Amino acid sequence: ELPKTVTINSKTYPVEPEWYNVSSTILNLTSRKLHLQKDHPVSITRQIIESVFPSPTYLSYNNLDPVVSTHENFDSLGFPPNHPGRAKTDTYYINSKTLLRTHTSAHEAALFAAAKSPGYLISADVYRRDEIDKSHYPVFHQMEGARVWDRNLVPGGDIVKAVYKDLESLPKHDMIIEDPNPPFHAERNPLQSSHTAEEAKAVAAHLKRSLELMVAEIFKRVKESHARAGVKMKQDDAERPLKVRWVEAYFPFTSPSWELEVWYQDEWLEILGCGVTQQHILDDAGVPSQIGWAFGVGLERIAMLLFQIPDIRLFWSRDQRFLGQFAGVGDDLGKLRPFVGFSKHPACYKDVSFWLPGHGGAGAAGGRGGEGEWHENDLMEVVRDVAGDVVEDVVLMDSFVHPKTGRRIEDGDVLGVGAVVLISGETVCVVDAQPPGRLGPDCASKTWG
Ligand code: PHE
Repeated sequence: ELPKTVTINSKTYPVEPEWYNVSSTILNLTSRKLHLQKDHPVSITRQIIESVFPSPTYLSYNNLDPVVSTHENFDSLGFPPNHPGRAKTDTYYINSKTLLRTHTSAHEAALFAAAKSPGYLISADVYRRDEIDKSHYPVFHQMEGARVWDRNLVPGGDIVKAVYKDLESLPKHDMIIEDPNPPFHAERNPLQSSHTAEEAKAVAAHLKRSLELMVAEIFKRVKESHARAGVKMKQDDAERPLKVRWVEAYFPFTSPSWELEVWYQDEWLEILGCGVTQQHILDDAGVPSQIGWAFGVGLERIAMLLFQIPDIRLFWSRDQRFLGQFAGVGDDLGKLRPFVGFSKHPACYKDVSFWLPGHGGAGAAGGRGGEGEWHENDLMEVVRDVAGDVVEDVVLMDSFVHPKTGRRIEDGDVLGVGAVVLISGETVCVVDAQPPGRLGPDCASKTWG
């Protein structure tokens, strides 16, 4: 039953039945590349972050293949053989040695080895088997960033001095920063044996300022977009300078490591993971004279903040009611606005026409008539009784007086207390709406030429 091979982005891989667990739903998503789709919120978020890490210092890699080896995704980064992330229950495997990357860090080794620039950014789709809710989806997007300094290239071989010089040239910001922990800690967040304390401190300081600037840029855009739409942000978030905090963390491929959190809508929101790159990764990549930092950030989480998007599944929508809201923003971030929600269900329009009672146009359409005459609200009651709150809008489209009989017809969604005529496509139905009508079961229909 299983295919012998699987083709992803025009490359073919041998399938091992005891490993293969990629469903067709997931396979179909490998070609979407939301991070490269013009005016898609994930792509706009990528552009905003890229603007904080300019070339030529940072080069962007946005088209790396999602299929990687277990070596690239885990071993090269120092994941132990029994790490839970390797389990078939958590990761999509094609065969024992090939999987869909679970994070953009899978490309670190290759890009450190390529050494085309002192820094790089990677944006890509990543894959993790996960629960179903509004903040999880088995495919999402990450951006990886890294920066190195080379002992052989910096003046006097003085890494510390070179790093602080680069730090000096970074812009300042006015955020409130909580950073209560020491730069490293022997048990919780150790210094690497190949680094001096001064080196690790310098690299960490450059890392932290760079990422604080990224958060500052994102929240500047969040505030601007709220203001543009006239939407109030919570007082706290709108007026005080932004508050962020550095929290000690653990990743197999960095040490010391941190997570960056932002105080947003009365809670700490985790934004990214980062740290000083494990020296063995740079050594294995053939650049042992380099030392540096790396970070990884989830793009959907940032996009949800930027655009106030309530559900991660919306990013995969092809509905113009979703995509249309971001038109032109990729070229002009000044157009960025909060997303406005819409029904999860596809729109369904009902065209309703019917004769009004009496002759010669008694009772004004949509208006209030005399005693005993028809009123628009009578229709509203019928619609509400039949369809409940699913109905979003009832609009009068047109009215018509028959030239011979003088009878009036309302085309739109209005009810006459006599016969009701529903027009849908070619079919005209006569609905008996006596008294207060049901648009449902007691519908007698007839097709007129
Ligand atoms: N790859 C990590 C993750 O997916 C994030 C990370 C990247 C942490 C680089 C440190 C350095 O959670």
